[in-house]
Amino acid sequence: MEGKKVIFSGIQPSGDLTLGNYLGAIKNWVRLQEQYDCYFCVVDLHAITVRQEPKDLRRRTLELLSIYIASGIDPEKNTMFIQSHVPQHSEAAWLLNCNTYMGELSRMTQFKDKSAKSGNSIAAGLLNYPVLMAADILLYQADLVPVGRDQKQHLELTRDLGERFNNLYSPTFKIPEAYIPKAGAKIMDLQEPTKKMSKSSENANGFILIMDPPNVIRKKISRAVTDTIGVVKYSDEQPGIKNLINILSAIKSISPEQIEEQYDGIGYAKFKSDVADAIVEELEPIQSKVKQLVSDKKYLAEVYKQGAEKAKYVANKTLRKMKKKIGFIPEN
Ligand code: AMP
Ligand code: TRP
Repeated sequence: MEGKKVIFSGIQPSGDLTLGNYLGAIKNWVRLQEQYDCYFCVVDLHAITVRQEPKDLRRRTLELLSIYIASGIDPEKNTMFIQSHVPQHSEAAWLLNCNTYMGELSRMTQFKDKSAKSGNSIAAGLLNYPVLMAADILLYQADLVPVGRDQKQHLELTRDLGERFNNLYSPTFKIPEAYIPKAGAKIMDLQEPTKKMSKSSENANGFILIMDPPNVIRKKISRAVTDTIGVVKYSDEQPGIKNLINILSAIKSISPEQIEEQYDGIGYAKFKSDVADAIVEELEPIQSKVKQLVSDKKYLAEVYKQGAEKAKYVANKTLRKMKKKIGFIPEN
């Protein structure tokens, strides 16, 4: 571990995971785990910024941890834990909140989108959400944060908050960089390919879930919106086809240009069926492992307990420094 750069990332257990989450985040984590000292968190505190049914939250939290493991993240090599098990996150978030401006929070795109959907009862936690995310990252002195493109703005705020604290007191935090993948950075909705693929989309044909059965995956891909141009080309004028190329490119680690060449003169039907095959081939083994893991509560508990223990130790070192610099009296 010593000397390795640190990675921190997390996903909310707030709904079923999509192919976008997998290609934008998890698949890259699997690649990065060899070279970095990685912390992969199930961010349940973030999930409650919108109302969650307690029993669904419990189920999804363990399912998300199972997806991490089933996708190939090795619990022996990485620190995997549940955010609410490490109270330092909430505590550090409060300290950072007191150095964060309302203006910078209300400018966040995700806040604007989500609050627009909440009507008159917008939880204060929804506004403060990125401060908790900054706490997550800064507590571990992370160098890199692998996320999809939609999180770039939150990462910039994290850097601002870290720098602000460092300047106000004295150097305390490492200032992290976002790590955004080339191919899977933004997987689009299959029905409205100008919109991000999201589990909260109303039309279920627009997204593929990591746990969707093969026949459902094939059906959704075959119904994906394309165009009348008829050539497999990586072009902004063909957002549907471009999205399918991105999906194939992220799964197979081949460039969009290679895919264009490979499908020169070949129609959409064959292309779509190959994309569907690639997704099924990628997800099927993960699905069967997840099904096995979710029923092994004892094993999952071992993983998250061990993870929380390590995480607490590291997070506490940073938190103590923060409190001391702010002027709090140390308890001992
Ligand atoms: P969330 O589901 O909002 O907790 O997102 C978890 C991770 O998945 C973050 O790193 C997001 O950037 C990433 N992500 C979510 N949706 C997509 C998408 N459609 N394409 C690529 N990455 C995504
Ligand atoms: N905000 C992220 C999302 O919606 C989830 C998240 C919370 C996160 N804390 C994080 C991602 C820390 C990376 C690092 O996707």
